[in-house]
Amino acid sequence: MASGRARRDFFDARASDWEASCYPEEVRGRLLELLPCFDLTPGARVLDVGTGPGVLIPYLRRAVGPAGRVVAFDLSLPMARKAREKPLSPRDLVLQADGHRLPFRAAVFDRVICFAAFPHFDDPALALAEMARVLRPGGRLVIAHLLSREELTRHHGGHEAVADDILPPPALMGELFARAGLEPPSIEDRPGRYLASALKRGMPLSDESGRI
Ligand SMILES: C[S@@+](CC[C@H](N)C(=O)[O-])C[C@H]1O[C@@H](n2cnc3c(N)ncnc32)[C@H](O)[C@@H]1O
Repeated sequence: MASGRARRDFFDARASDWEASCYPEEVRGRLLELLPCFDLTPGARVLDVGTGPGVLIPYLRRAVGPAGRVVAFDLSLPMARKAREKPLSPRDLVLQADGHRLPFRAAVFDRVICFAAFPHFDDPALALAEMARVLRPGGRLVIAHLLSREELTRHHGGHEAVADDILPPPALMGELFARAGLEPPSIEDRPGRYLASALKRGMPLSDESGRI
């Protein structure tokens, strides 16, 4: 089994050409089709988990508009540095952080999007619990990929450092969502797309302080 260090080195080394090599035109077209599933609205505060070089940031920024806020983080410093080059508003924030210990207060985001990153967490239950903690009640959490679960397993299998990084099977994913305080997820798993999406349980709060 590859170590966390090997995985980290793998992503660090690919930061500069990740977007160009992983997002050719055809893939970007499918990414555009996926965006409505993120359920983004103007003014929303959105967290981009494992942002990599910030591929999603321009789309999120456009969707939440001037009143919204995009916060993006990655464990890899080279990736976070690349992501910081994306056009941001003064309210936005891009940082290096570990998904297992998020440096944010509880219930401060309206949307939490974990795009192409969930299989890479050492402790998926803890990472999901952290994403749910920072999501407001009634907010939506989305785990998304542009490959099916099976395609992703095959794809990662071609790289030693991430060969064991897989998406949990549906029953376990449902269990992880329940334990994190989320509604049962709707899961779409088909060629070219994996999407697990659910709302956080509880009454919506009205904390408009804007502090994260
Ligand atoms: C496959 S890349 C996807 C990046 C980006 N979301 C994209 O689609 O281009 C997975 C990312 O997850 C990040 N990652 C892995 N473990 C992490 C953790 N514990 N906390 C935050 N990010 C993590 C990696 O550094 C990497 O940039």
